Amino acid sequence: MLLLMLCHQLNAQVQNKMDWFADAKLGIFIHWGIYAVDGTSESWAFYNKRVPYSAYMDQIKGFKANQYKPKEWAELIAQSGAKYAVITTKHHDGVALWNTKQNNLSIPKLAPVAKDVLTPFVNALKEKQLKFGAYYSLLDWSHPDYTGFTKDSSRYKVEQDTLRWKRFQSFYNGQLRELIAQYSPDLFWFDGDWEHDAKTWDAAGIRKMILDANPNAILNGRLQGYGDYDTPEQNFPVTRPAQNYWELCLTTNDNWGFRFIDSNFKTPYQIISIFADCIGMGGNLLLDIGPKADGTIPAQQVYILKELGKWNRKHQEAIFSSIAGLPAGHFYGPSTLSKDSQTLYLFLSSTQAATCYLKGLQNKIVHAEVLGTGQQINPTVVGKISWSQVPGLVYFDITPALKDNYLTVLKLKLDGPLKLYRGKGGL
Ligand code: GLC
Repeated sequence: MLLLMLCHQLNAQVQNKMDWFADAKLGIFIHWGIYAVDGTSESWAFYNKRVPYSAYMDQIKGFKANQYKPKEWAELIAQSGAKYAVITTKHHDGVALWNTKQNNLSIPKLAPVAKDVLTPFVNALKEKQLKFGAYYSLLDWSHPDYTGFTKDSSRYKVEQDTLRWKRFQSFYNGQLRELIAQYSPDLFWFDGDWEHDAKTWDAAGIRKMILDANPNAILNGRLQGYGDYDTPEQNFPVTRPAQNYWELCLTTNDNWGFRFIDSNFKTPYQIISIFADCIGMGGNLLLDIGPKADGTIPAQQVYILKELGKWNRKHQEAIFSSIAGLPAGHFYGPSTLSKDSQTLYLFLSSTQAATCYLKGLQNKIVHAEVLGTGQQINPTVVGKISWSQVPGLVYFDITPALKDNYLTVLKLKLDGPLKLYRGKGGL
């Protein structure tokens, strides 16, 4: 009984601390590091031997950050509608953005900018009431006590030298303690857990250390089973991920960090439709940008964030604080619901036909409008058979003038909490 009560309490705790995350819907991911100098791929460039390690690390000499305006970053993030940002405090290459005391491999110690570039950004986020997420790579291919180095060379195996591994553990625990003490992140976004199992990382210990300091801190799912939510990467889930909470992380072009060669940007329409699909399935989108080494954000990324922001402002009630919408089969497109499930929001692409319909809705629609336009529309119920329990099809006609350039949102006020017919038809 006691155990049951404890479990219940624990669940309730997890529930509460995840509330802001579930309502946030949109976060901005920032990959900023020395890889932006030559525009190599973040850390993987030397791991995969595309460039020699020394050439890769030499990039640090070009990390000037002389146009870095953290307040403008935070302003742009707020404008996009995002409620949180996650920045790479240390990627797999081991270079810390802050002045870590655990080693010398940091921007403040080795780059020409010669100062901590993390603190002013975290402060700017907090001023804007945005939540702060610290991306932290557990694995560290530069550290002399870390096991792995490049794809075909490693330093040692944990079981061959457990003392050496212990030294590495006290290194990352030390860095994590610094992040906790100096920045109290609302969220820890771990990465690189795949190189060792939960026991070797002491994932339980990491989780405990973070939650002892701040029971409300959220941990992403890359901690060998000790995280709070799933993090599918790039590939859009077709069925809802297993964990109750999830977040798709996605690049705006094809790379996480800034690369001169990559101009394959997704269009605002593509980003917005992916975003709508995420929230319709109860997830978040963590959309990545890769600032340049001078601290400026590529123009295409600024453009995407601003367009996304405009669309978010127009349709905010359908997005923020909503919950997952209809299960597949009722409507050809994403949808969300208000928390009391008495308002249904349907997302339609501008290229979709002027007429669309909804299947299996048992409720009466008391009011329908095109969100953000104030224009009421009159749905028509088609094919309702008087003696059958099966509801008719609800058709909507949307005149082209009412359509949004990206996704149009229909707001349907229902006569009560959503009730669906899920049967196979017939009587
Ligand atoms: C992968 C990559 C890494 C990137 C991350 C973002 O784990 O290793 O380079 O930072 O995904 O999700």
